[in-house]
Amino acid sequence: MESLHGRVAIVTGAARGIGLGIAGVLRAEGADVLLADLDGDAARAAAAGLTGDGGRALGVQADVTAEQDMQRLAGDAVQRWGRIDILAANAGVYPHIPLRELTVAAFDAIMTINVRGALLAIQACLPQMTEQHYGRIVLTSSITGSLVGQPGYAHYGATKAAMLGLMRSAALEVAAAGITINAVLPGNIKTPGFDDLGPEHTRRMLAAIPLGRFGEPADVGWAVRALAARESGYITGQTLVIDGGQVLPESGQ
Ligand SMILES: NC(=O)c1ccc[n+]([C@@H]2O[C@H](COP(=O)([O-])OP(=O)(O)OC[C@H]3O[C@@H](n4cnc5c(N)ncnc54)[C@H](O)[C@@H]3O)[C@@H](O)[C@H]2O)c1
Repeated sequence: MESLHGRVAIVTGAARGIGLGIAGVLRAEGADVLLADLDGDAARAAAAGLTGDGGRALGVQADVTAEQDMQRLAGDAVQRWGRIDILAANAGVYPHIPLRELTVAAFDAIMTINVRGALLAIQACLPQMTEQHYGRIVLTSSITGSLVGQPGYAHYGATKAAMLGLMRSAALEVAAAGITINAVLPGNIKTPGFDDLGPEHTRRMLAAIPLGRFGEPADVGWAVRALAARESGYITGQTLVIDGGQVLPESGQ
């Protein structure tokens, strides 16, 4: 597989967790990486941790729900490094909220971050990718909503399934411009956000994973790297599950 040297990547929600795992793999593979996050200080600190080998990584504050932030982000990448080859639209939130407690405001908020956020990031990068006639977009969806359900996550599952609907039609629209859009579907990945769900949740989840361990952010990073490769140019509108076999069993065992 060709090195990512000379490629420019944008990763949203990259200050920690899966986004940082994706950014780390893309940087290690040679790409220049713009790490965007709501928490600008954390994004800059994360980027500093990825430049040890003299490579280029930059952290910026950006809210995926804000159109002007996404436009600025794409503009920054082009201004500094001249292109945008890879977009990992990863930023997302997953608060546990049972249906009876789910308010309209909470539902709208999660849709805005997880779905509109992915849409705005894609839209911001499309003009440059179209001009290059090259682009690899990878969305971070989830097994939740796309393949399975989980009590307390109806709102979240709706957003992650919606991202796949967005992906499939968008993939058709941009195909002629040499741009692919695919999605990774992580299972249970050890991140700060995942740890916040508490020990009872993590104990239950671990018992359901055939490979016997939680995923690491880099496990998702390598899947994104594969879909972001030049050689993956004939794959579009597809999903890749990274879950240690969690959704495989025919029945609970
Ligand atoms: N951890 C898992 O087990 C798991 C499983 C499936 C899918 N996912 C998905 O992976 C993605 C990352 O999850 P994680 O576990 O790394 O979460 P995390 O909470 O550890 O990290 C998320 C990062 O996104 C940033 N962020 C949140 N809202 C943002 C916004 N509006 N704009 C920009 N940045 C924002 C946060 O500041 C944080 O740095 C999410 O889309 C999540 O739904 C996670």
